[in-house]
Amino acid sequence: MTAAPVAADAPAAPAATDADLRRAAVRVLLGNWTGSSTLPSRTLYPHQWSWDSAFIMLGLRHISPYRAQRELESMLGAQWADGRLPHIAFHPATPPGAYFPGPDFWRSASAGSAPPGVPTSGIVQPPVHALAAWETHRADPVASRRRGFLERVRPGLAAWHRYLADRRDLGGRGLAAVVHPWESGMDNSPAWDAPLARVEPAAAGSFRRRDLDHADVADRPTDLDYGRYVRLAADYRDHGYDDRATPFGFAVEDPSFNALLVLSEHALADITAELGGDPAPHRERAAALTEALVGALWDPGAGLFLCRDLIGGAPIREYGVAGLVPLAVPGLPVAADLLRTALGERFRVGGVHLVPSYDLTGPAFEPGRYWRGPGWFNMSWLVHLGLLRHGAPAQAAALRASMLAAAARTGFAEYVDPYSGEGRGTRDFSWTAATVLDLLSREV
Ligand code: SER
Repeated sequence: MTAAPVAADAPAAPAATDADLRRAAVRVLLGNWTGSSTLPSRTLYPHQWSWDSAFIMLGLRHISPYRAQRELESMLGAQWADGRLPHIAFHPATPPGAYFPGPDFWRSASAGSAPPGVPTSGIVQPPVHALAAWETHRADPVASRRRGFLERVRPGLAAWHRYLADRRDLGGRGLAAVVHPWESGMDNSPAWDAPLARVEPAAAGSFRRRDLDHADVADRPTDLDYGRYVRLAADYRDHGYDDRATPFGFAVEDPSFNALLVLSEHALADITAELGGDPAPHRERAAALTEALVGALWDPGAGLFLCRDLIGGAPIREYGVAGLVPLAVPGLPVAADLLRTALGERFRVGGVHLVPSYDLTGPAFEPGRYWRGPGWFNMSWLVHLGLLRHGAPAQAAALRASMLAAAARTGFAEYVDPYSGEGRGTRDFSWTAATVLDLLSREV
């Protein structure tokens, strides 16, 4: 069943001022709080998602630093003994059939390394957590020190980064690889079309999607793509989620995933220094990752970072927002060229609503479908940071204004048509509210 169009595009009481918008954003985050973590959405995503939690912390820290701390501590409670942070920690109060694939599909308990008593998925999502931990600490260092927040989370964050370095450098080039489109967070980006085409989809009748109960079919991935997602996840599961034993049908180096790892490695250096330790190894790792990112994934002709298909052995020539995210990396040597691409015709940052998730001029562009064109608030937040970091304050201000206006107009939509500014996907979406709250806490 397709959800009725949500009236939130014309909300009864649109947020007229920044104070109204702030109140509305707080209401979303409090409404999605479970007592120990935040649901991305009460309908579409009724559990705890890994990278959602990190973006949610960036907003939650302005309402309650304590809750932001708890958000990460809950997530780390789902960490596996091998260091991986699973992309979903299933919420015990949510009915088992509310989301597919649920605990019965992932069967984490059978994997050995998963924490006992906490059902989780077995794949990961981008490592934004150390960045979120450091920003949460900075929001209220006194409250953070009183609870020993950084002492609590540092070992888990370090183990998470170690897992990525030790188990996921599948290309041997010093970068972390993703083994499922969901691990990139950009599930059906056109960049995955070619590598996914070799994956035999799971039979259509062998599973039942739940996402279409809560979102318009035109805004979501196709059934064929879903069959391939299920096949890849089932193959990994059936090999015990063992990164050395699984014959991966999908393995990609993604510039966004690795740029976020650089930001988090810098944050881990700051955390380590705050705790009286030596930050140098983390700074060195951040520098090595930055060098590997530029050396392996920068495409000077495109002026953009490209994903690399490790199985096909070639760069993927689809231009997506993943390639712009490294703009947030401090000291990026190719920042001037990347900035030009962000402001050029493919992405038109500051000239359309949010930052499009895919090349506006690209053959696969669809303005409303999940990750194939619409703008997302978390990606836009990262590009906003990059614009400020690399000397484009006017464009950053225009992007900030478009994010605030879109959130108010759409009732905190999950994503936004870059041309019309209409909301897509679900509403009252947590990271939309969180990133907007963060933008409201600063002048630019
Ligand atoms: N983002 C994926 C979904 O739509 C998987 O986490 O369910």
